[in-house]
Amino acid sequence: MLSYLHGFHAGNFADVHKHLIFSLVLDYLLKKDKPLSVIDVYAGSGFYDLTDNRAKKTGEAEAGIQAIPDTAWPEAAAPYREVTRRAAAHQWPPRFYPGSPQIAADLARSKDRLVFNELHPREYEALKSRFAGDPRVHVHHREALEALVALVPPPEKRGLVLVDPSYEVKDEYRTVPEALARAELKWPTGVFLLWYPLLAGGAHHPFVQLVERLTSAPLLQSEFCIRPPGAGMYGSGMMILNPPWTLAASLESLRGWLGQLQGPGGVTRIRNVRT
Ligand SMILES: C[S@@+](CC[C@H](N)C(=O)[O-])C[C@H]1O[C@@H](n2cnc3c(N)ncnc32)[C@H](O)[C@@H]1O
Repeated sequence: MLSYLHGFHAGNFADVHKHLIFSLVLDYLLKKDKPLSVIDVYAGSGFYDLTDNRAKKTGEAEAGIQAIPDTAWPEAAAPYREVTRRAAAHQWPPRFYPGSPQIAADLARSKDRLVFNELHPREYEALKSRFAGDPRVHVHHREALEALVALVPPPEKRGLVLVDPSYEVKDEYRTVPEALARAELKWPTGVFLLWYPLLAGGAHHPFVQLVERLTSAPLLQSEFCIRPPGAGMYGSGMMILNPPWTLAASLESLRGWLGQLQGPGGVTRIRNVRT
């Protein structure tokens, strides 16, 4: 199907939540000297201009990254601040916003390996040309769930996998947890980040239960809702398999800061599903 284009949504509140967690986890893993792999199986094009027609049409970034003042960032959000400011060339509110591949490329070291996968032909071409010349980066043009299972464990045996589907196909609420479980069996110590939307239909409830049932590693859940359940996407969710032990406390300390993007009835939930 592939009608989803992330350019319409780049920098929205869900990207802020997802990329905050992604950069915190990566920053933690980078504290050890050993090389690691970052595998991003639904990568998108990698970098976004928030003044282009797609972003302007929805205006979602205005209620996301552009609504965050460039003052008083808490220390706990430093890795995310670093990558967003760098993408924005230090102009705030930002015109440019980093996708997950750009965040990984900015935080990783020369010894790390970055594997980005994207199926949409034009997004794939944009991704490939953006990272041409970066010897750390390997760009794939594959079906994401096939790639998810095939690409683990990476040779480094350390690192993280971001699973960030567009959920255009209803089946994904079943096929994604199933593929994640197969990937976990192949790489039980890998860190897996799985993003999901909170929508009025409530499809995320059985989805979350399925993830809990099919996986067995320590599991942390973070949900960030900007308003009560209603029309459209009202929240952003992340399930983190094998989370860094510091992550729950970091997210706890960032509740108030994220709360800047919440309207009346917004809630933030952090749940240790399994330790
Ligand atoms: C939510 S976007 C990714 C955003 C990106 N992870 C980021 O944070 O910047 C989802 C991407 O997955 C791609 N996609 C959708 N279905 C796919 C599939 N079956 N295999 C590979 N890529 C797919 C879409 O084209 C889209 O670019």
